[in-house]
Amino acid sequence: MRLVDLAASDTHDLRRRVLRVGTVTTSVVFDGDDEAVHLGLVDDGVVAVSSWFERRHPDRPALTGFQLRGMAVEPERAGSGLGSRLLAGGVERMAALGAELVWARARDTALTFYTSRGFEVFGEGYVDLSTGLPHHDVIRLL
Ligand SMILES: CC(C)(COP(=O)(O)OP(=O)(O)OC[C@H]1O[C@@H](n2cnc3c(N)ncnc32)[C@H](O)[C@@H]1OP(=O)(O)O)[C@@H](O)C(=O)NCCC(=O)NCCS
Repeated sequence: MRLVDLAASDTHDLRRRVLRVGTVTTSVVFDGDDEAVHLGLVDDGVVAVSSWFERRHPDRPALTGFQLRGMAVEPERAGSGLGSRLLAGGVERMAALGAELVWARARDTALTFYTSRGFEVFGEGYVDLSTGLPHHDVIRLL
């Protein structure tokens, strides 16, 4: 299993199959994809993807921030540590790029994943318009 840089288009299949099931939008292209860092785990194929956008959190504008989006693990492999490994690798890369914090708009179904890995829930919950799903922001100071 290797942690690798991906092209944005390499993330589309997992974004579609994991993050765009029953959602309001079916688009797998995110604003800023061309400038983002896309990291994945690869063995026979791409089994986990994540995308990192240099973007300050609106409520922490003084800190250099990177937003994690599109975190998705091959469904058959969920719960086997891939997401943890990818998240740790991404945080390490963002720290090397000068991040003072990393943050995400997390699905409530994934909140435990983040809060068990150094993130704190930040602010009130909301329904994300592109998915129609309940979310909270999560933040990790580096
Ligand atoms: C959330 C997700 C990225 C976690 O990656 P993973 O490889 O399954 O997780 P790991 O095996 O490293 O860690 C397990 C933890 O992930 C969480 N988790 C496991 N399966 C999950 C699932 N299907 N959906 C949400 N969270 C899950 C649990 O909190 C679990 O906690 P535990 O360690 O106390 O048991 C992955 O399950 C996934 O792609 N889920 C669907 C898409 C999603 O919710 N993405 C995040 C959007 S913000």
